[in-house]
Amino acid sequence: MIVLKTPEEIARIRLSGRVVHEALQAMQKAIVPGVSTTQDLENAAIEVLTRHGATSPFLGYKPSGHPPYPAWTCVSVNDELVHGVPGRRVLQDGDIVSCDVGCLLNGYYGDSAWTFAVGSISAEAERLMRVTREALLRGIEQARPGNRVGDIGSAIERYVRKAGFSVVREMVGHGVGKALHEEPQVPNFGRPGTGVLLQEGMTLAIEPMVNAGGREIRTLADGWTIATADGSLSAHFEHTIAITDKGPVILTQGS
Ligand code: MF3
Ligand code: CO
Repeated sequence: MIVLKTPEEIARIRLSGRVVHEALQAMQKAIVPGVSTTQDLENAAIEVLTRHGATSPFLGYKPSGHPPYPAWTCVSVNDELVHGVPGRRVLQDGDIVSCDVGCLLNGYYGDSAWTFAVGSISAEAERLMRVTREALLRGIEQARPGNRVGDIGSAIERYVRKAGFSVVREMVGHGVGKALHEEPQVPNFGRPGTGVLLQEGMTLAIEPMVNAGGREIRTLADGWTIATADGSLSAHFEHTIAITDKGPVILTQGS
């Protein structure tokens, strides 16, 4: 079942989304090449969420067949694309680090992710980040009443392919707002004009994961971290958006 939100509910999701945005900014600020650990980034996000009276829907999240997720955020480095568990790993100059933050504030959920550079990165890593961010924006652009879910995925996939990179297919975006994961699923690939009809009042997390090499993935021994199978770099950008009569509105930014 797809839950449509009223403008009042969308405003509440935006409040949660603002906290997510602030937490992501704090994580980026906490990056000191050769010094900060992934746990330091986690701690920066925890400080922001806690200060706003929010909690993390990731902590203790337990899909079947998984151990409960042990942290507030996901911090994934280089070939890790998502669900990296923060810990003692030190971020090194030239790394890229994908930070994923969910927020539960007064019953409403926001979800956003961003890949940051650690110090100075290669031109190829820079291009991967730029293409993934642009792919997200191309997908968001399609999130308007009358379009279909396949229009979002196909816009993302087409743009990524043209750049010579590949889209991960096993993990997808999702409805979000009254729960962390709602219907519909939002794949980062698809055919135009197919899938669920998009309507005013839908709130979606759109989140392309893009690999510099092949699209295949593997799960690391911790049971959570997902990495590229071929060891190539991966980037991840995600926004929570609302579909309105005026088109898509991003809810996980500062305004
Ligand atoms: N942004 C991811 C998602 O929407 C985060 C889930 S991470 C987990 O699925 F840690 F909670 F699993
Ligand atoms: Co998400």
